[in-house]
Amino acid sequence: MTLHEADFLARKGKKPITMLTAYTCPVARGIEAAGVPVILVGDTVGMVEMGFESTRDVTLEHMEYHIGAVRRGAPNTHIIGDLPYLTDAEPHIALTSARRLIAAGANSIKLEGPKDEVIRHLVANGIPVVGHTGLTPQTATSFKKVGTNDADAQRILEEAKRIESAGAFMVVLEHIPYALADVITRALSIPTIGIGAGPDCDGQVLVINDALGLGDYWPPFSKQYAHVSDTILKVARDFTAEVESLEFPNNIIQLTGTGRR
Ligand code: KIV
Ligand code: NA
Repeated sequence: MTLHEADFLARKGKKPITMLTAYTCPVARGIEAAGVPVILVGDTVGMVEMGFESTRDVTLEHMEYHIGAVRRGAPNTHIIGDLPYLTDAEPHIALTSARRLIAAGANSIKLEGPKDEVIRHLVANGIPVVGHTGLTPQTATSFKKVGTNDADAQRILEEAKRIESAGAFMVVLEHIPYALADVITRALSIPTIGIGAGPDCDGQVLVINDALGLGDYWPPFSKQYAHVSDTILKVARDFTAEVESLEFPNNIIQLTGTGRR
Protein backbone atom coordinates (compact mmCIF):
# COMPACT_ATOMS: atom_id res chain seq x y z
CA MET A 1 0.00 0.00 0.00
CA THR A 2 2.74 2.46 0.94
CA LEU A 3 4.58 3.62 -2.18
CA HIS A 4 8.37 3.42 -2.22
CA GLU A 5 11.17 4.87 -4.37
CA ALA A 6 10.63 2.50 -7.33
CA ASP A 7 6.89 3.27 -7.40
CA PHE A 8 7.54 6.99 -7.73
CA LEU A 9 10.17 6.42 -10.42
CA ALA A 10 7.66 4.26 -12.32
CA ARG A 11 5.11 7.09 -12.34
CA LYS A 12 7.41 9.51 -14.17
CA GLY A 13 5.83 10.40 -17.50
CA LYS A 14 2.83 8.15 -16.70
CA LYS A 15 0.78 9.48 -13.81
CA PRO A 16 1.24 12.81 -12.01
CA ILE A 17 2.36 12.51 -8.39
CA THR A 18 0.35 14.36 -5.75
CA MET A 19 2.15 15.51 -2.62
CA LEU A 20 0.79 17.56 0.27
CA THR A 21 2.54 18.70 3.41
CA ALA A 22 1.10 17.77 6.81
CA TYR A 23 2.18 18.49 10.36
CA THR A 24 -0.59 17.03 12.52
CA CYS A 25 -2.44 13.75 12.99
CA PRO A 26 -6.00 14.71 11.90
CA VAL A 27 -4.77 16.47 8.77
CA ALA A 28 -2.58 13.48 7.88
CA ARG A 29 -5.56 11.19 8.43
CA GLY A 30 -7.62 13.13 5.89
CA ILE A 31 -4.80 13.17 3.36
CA GLU A 32 -4.29 9.41 3.64
CA ALA A 33 -8.06 8.80 3.39
CA ALA A 34 -8.05 10.78 0.11
CA GLY A 35 -5.39 8.44 -1.30
CA VAL A 36 -2.59 10.99 -1.63
CA PRO A 37 0.52 8.82 -2.14
CA VAL A 38 3.10 10.97 -0.37
CA ILE A 39 3.09 13.40 2.54
CA LEU A 40 5.89 15.88 3.16
CA VAL A 41 6.47 16.90 6.75
CA GLY A 42 8.22 20.08 5.64
CA ASP A 43 10.16 22.54 7.72
CA THR A 44 7.51 25.03 6.53
CA VAL A 45 5.92 23.88 9.80
CA GLY A 46 8.05 26.58 11.43
CA MET A 47 6.41 29.33 9.43
CA VAL A 48 2.84 28.09 8.90
CA GLU A 49 2.24 26.39 12.26
CA MET A 50 4.79 27.75 14.73
CA GLY A 51 4.87 31.45 13.90
CA PHE A 52 8.60 31.64 13.14
CA GLU A 53 9.91 34.10 10.56
CA SER A 54 12.06 31.50 8.85
CA THR A 55 12.44 27.74 8.43
CA ARG A 56 15.89 28.19 9.99
CA ASP A 57 14.28 28.19 13.45
CA VAL A 58 13.05 24.61 13.04
CA THR A 59 14.95 21.91 14.96
CA LEU A 60 15.26 18.14 14.67
CA GLU A 61 13.14 17.83 17.83
CA HIS A 62 10.34 19.83 16.17
CA MET A 63 10.53 17.59 13.11
CA GLU A 64 10.46 14.40 15.20
CA TYR A 65 7.34 15.64 17.02
CA HIS A 66 5.49 16.46 13.80
CA ILE A 67 6.63 13.36 11.88
CA GLY A 68 5.38 11.21 14.79
CA ALA A 69 1.98 12.93 14.72
CA VAL A 70 1.68 12.58 10.94
CA ARG A 71 2.72 8.91 11.05
CA ARG A 72 0.01 8.14 13.63
CA GLY A 73 -2.56 9.78 11.33
CA ALA A 74 -1.24 8.23 8.10
CA PRO A 75 0.16 4.79 8.96
CA ASN A 76 0.19 3.60 5.32
CA THR A 77 1.46 6.63 3.41
CA HIS A 78 5.01 7.41 2.30
CA ILE A 79 6.26 10.21 4.53
CA ILE A 80 9.17 12.48 3.61
CA GLY A 81 10.77 14.37 6.51
CA ASP A 82 12.68 17.59 5.91
CA LEU A 83 16.16 17.83 7.37
CA PRO A 84 16.21 21.20 9.17
CA TYR A 85 18.75 23.94 8.49
CA LEU A 86 22.34 22.84 9.25
CA THR A 87 21.35 19.34 10.36
CA ASP A 88 22.71 18.22 6.96
CA ALA A 89 25.86 20.35 7.10
CA GLU A 90 28.20 17.35 6.79
CA PRO A 91 27.69 13.75 5.70
CA HIS A 92 28.02 12.18 9.17
CA ILE A 93 25.82 14.85 10.81
CA ALA A 94 23.22 14.38 8.09
CA LEU A 95 23.19 10.61 8.63
CA THR A 96 22.60 10.98 12.37
CA SER A 97 19.84 13.54 11.69
CA ALA A 98 18.22 11.43 8.97
CA ARG A 99 18.20 8.34 11.20
CA ARG A 100 16.30 10.31 13.84
CA LEU A 101 13.63 11.36 11.33
CA ILE A 102 13.32 7.78 10.05
CA ALA A 103 13.02 6.53 13.65
CA ALA A 104 10.27 9.13 14.21
CA GLY A 105 8.28 7.65 11.30
CA ALA A 106 9.61 9.01 7.99
CA ASN A 107 10.25 6.74 4.98
CA SER A 108 12.68 9.16 3.36
CA ILE A 109 14.25 12.56 3.98
CA LYS A 110 14.47 15.74 1.91
CA LEU A 111 17.32 18.23 1.94
CA GLU A 112 17.96 21.50 0.12
CA GLY A 113 20.68 22.18 -2.43
CA PRO A 114 23.23 20.20 -4.44
CA LYS A 115 24.94 18.51 -1.48
CA ASP A 116 26.35 15.57 -3.48
CA GLU A 117 28.54 14.15 -0.73
CA VAL A 118 25.76 14.26 1.84
CA ILE A 119 23.24 12.65 -0.51
CA ARG A 120 25.74 9.91 -1.46
CA HIS A 121 26.50 9.13 2.17
CA LEU A 122 22.81 8.91 3.11
CA VAL A 123 21.93 6.70 0.13
CA ALA A 124 24.96 4.45 0.81
CA ASN A 125 23.59 3.99 4.33
CA GLY A 126 20.13 3.03 3.15
CA ILE A 127 18.35 6.37 3.57
CA PRO A 128 16.14 7.30 0.57
CA VAL A 129 16.72 10.96 -0.33
CA VAL A 130 14.56 13.60 -2.01
CA GLY A 131 16.42 16.66 -3.36
CA HIS A 132 15.19 20.26 -3.51
CA THR A 133 16.46 23.02 -5.80
CA GLY A 134 15.31 26.32 -7.29
CA LEU A 135 14.19 28.49 -4.40
CA THR A 136 15.68 26.90 -1.27
CA PRO A 137 14.12 28.69 1.72
CA GLN A 138 16.74 27.68 4.32
CA THR A 139 19.39 29.80 2.58
CA ALA A 140 17.30 32.18 0.44
CA THR A 141 17.40 35.90 1.16
CA SER A 142 14.09 36.53 -0.60
CA PHE A 143 11.10 34.47 -1.73
CA LYS A 144 11.25 35.75 -5.30
CA LYS A 145 11.30 33.38 -8.27
CA VAL A 146 14.83 32.14 -9.06
CA GLY A 147 16.44 30.97 -12.30
CA THR A 148 15.11 33.90 -14.26
CA ASN A 149 18.40 34.70 -16.03
CA ASP A 150 20.44 32.30 -18.18
CA ALA A 151 23.30 31.85 -15.70
CA ASP A 152 20.96 31.06 -12.81
CA ALA A 153 18.84 28.75 -14.95
CA GLN A 154 21.97 26.86 -16.02
CA ARG A 155 23.11 26.57 -12.39
CA ILE A 156 19.75 25.17 -11.27
CA LEU A 157 19.72 22.65 -14.14
CA GLU A 158 23.24 21.52 -13.13
CA GLU A 159 22.18 21.28 -9.47
CA ALA A 160 19.22 19.09 -10.38
CA LYS A 161 21.51 16.80 -12.38
CA ARG A 162 23.99 16.59 -9.48
CA ILE A 163 21.15 15.73 -7.08
CA GLU A 164 20.05 12.93 -9.40
CA SER A 165 23.57 11.54 -9.93
CA ALA A 166 24.20 11.58 -6.18
CA GLY A 167 21.33 9.11 -5.82
CA ALA A 168 18.17 11.06 -4.92
CA PHE A 169 14.98 9.32 -6.08
CA MET A 170 12.88 12.48 -6.51
CA VAL A 171 13.49 16.24 -6.55
CA VAL A 172 11.38 19.24 -5.57
CA LEU A 173 11.62 22.27 -7.88
CA GLU A 174 10.49 25.44 -6.11
CA HIS A 175 9.50 28.75 -7.70
CA ILE A 176 11.40 28.66 -11.00
CA PRO A 177 10.29 29.58 -14.54
CA TYR A 178 7.92 27.00 -16.03
CA ALA A 179 10.14 26.53 -19.09
CA LEU A 180 13.13 25.73 -16.86
CA ALA A 181 11.12 23.18 -14.86
CA ASP A 182 10.13 21.58 -18.17
CA VAL A 183 13.78 21.37 -19.30
CA ILE A 184 14.84 19.85 -15.95
CA THR A 185 11.94 17.39 -15.93
CA ARG A 186 12.95 16.13 -19.38
CA ALA A 187 16.68 16.05 -18.49
CA LEU A 188 16.19 13.85 -15.40
CA SER A 189 15.07 10.26 -15.08
CA ILE A 190 13.80 10.79 -11.51
CA PRO A 191 10.43 12.52 -10.94
CA THR A 192 10.33 16.28 -10.41
CA ILE A 193 7.74 17.68 -7.99
CA GLY A 194 6.91 21.31 -8.59
CA ILE A 195 5.76 24.10 -6.31
CA GLY A 196 5.43 27.32 -8.27
CA ALA A 197 7.23 25.56 -11.14
CA GLY A 198 4.44 25.14 -13.66
CA PRO A 199 2.53 22.28 -15.26
CA ASP A 200 5.35 20.24 -16.79
CA CYS A 201 6.72 18.68 -13.59
CA ASP A 202 6.05 15.01 -12.82
CA GLY A 203 4.05 15.98 -9.75
CA GLN A 204 2.84 18.91 -7.67
CA VAL A 205 3.17 19.74 -3.98
CA LEU A 206 1.22 22.28 -1.96
CA VAL A 207 1.72 23.36 1.62
CA ILE A 208 -1.47 22.07 3.26
CA ASN A 209 -2.14 25.32 5.14
CA ASP A 210 -2.08 27.18 1.81
CA ALA A 211 -4.48 24.66 0.24
CA LEU A 212 -6.79 24.85 3.29
CA GLY A 213 -6.74 28.64 3.47
CA LEU A 214 -5.37 28.32 7.00
CA GLY A 215 -3.13 31.31 7.62
CA ASP A 216 -2.90 34.92 6.61
CA TYR A 217 -0.56 34.87 3.62
CA TRP A 218 -0.68 32.85 0.40
CA PRO A 219 2.18 32.49 -2.03
CA PRO A 220 0.99 33.57 -5.49
CA PHE A 221 1.52 30.06 -6.92
CA SER A 222 -0.66 28.34 -4.30
CA LYS A 223 -4.39 27.69 -4.49
CA GLN A 224 -6.94 27.89 -1.67
CA TYR A 225 -9.36 24.98 -1.94
CA ALA A 226 -11.05 26.08 1.31
CA HIS A 227 -10.97 29.00 3.76
CA VAL A 228 -10.36 27.38 7.13
CA SER A 229 -9.15 30.59 8.79
CA ASP A 230 -12.59 32.10 8.09
CA THR A 231 -14.20 29.02 9.65
CA ILE A 232 -12.06 29.37 12.80
CA LEU A 233 -13.08 33.01 13.15
CA LYS A 234 -16.76 32.13 12.72
CA VAL A 235 -16.62 29.23 15.20
CA ALA A 236 -14.87 31.35 17.84
CA ARG A 237 -17.39 34.17 17.38
CA ASP A 238 -20.40 31.84 17.44
CA PHE A 239 -19.13 30.08 20.57
CA THR A 240 -18.53 33.40 22.33
CA ALA A 241 -22.01 34.62 21.42
CA GLU A 242 -23.64 31.40 22.69
CA VAL A 243 -21.70 31.39 25.97
CA GLU A 244 -22.56 35.02 26.62
CA SER A 245 -26.24 34.43 25.80
CA LEU A 246 -26.28 31.28 28.02
CA GLU A 247 -27.29 29.13 25.03
CA PHE A 248 -24.19 26.95 25.30
CA PRO A 249 -23.87 24.30 26.76
CA ASN A 250 -27.59 23.79 27.15
CA ASN A 251 -28.14 23.53 23.41
CA ILE A 252 -25.39 20.95 22.79
CA ILE A 253 -26.44 18.70 25.70
CA GLN A 254 -30.01 18.68 24.39
CA LEU A 255 -28.85 17.87 20.88
CA THR A 256 -26.36 15.07 21.46
CA GLY A 257 -26.86 13.74 24.99
CA THR A 258 -23.36 12.77 26.12
CA GLY A 259 -21.63 15.11 23.73
CA ARG A 260 -19.52 12.29 22.31
CA ARG A 261 -19.72 11.22 18.70
O1 KIV B 1 8.96 22.57 3.83
C1 KIV B 1 8.20 22.44 2.86
O2 KIV B 1 6.96 22.43 2.98
C2 KIV B 1 8.80 22.30 1.53
C3 KIV B 1 7.89 22.43 0.36
C4 KIV B 1 7.57 23.87 0.12
C5 KIV B 1 8.44 21.78 -0.84
O3 KIV B 1 9.98 22.13 1.45
NA1 NA C 1 11.17 22.59 3.36
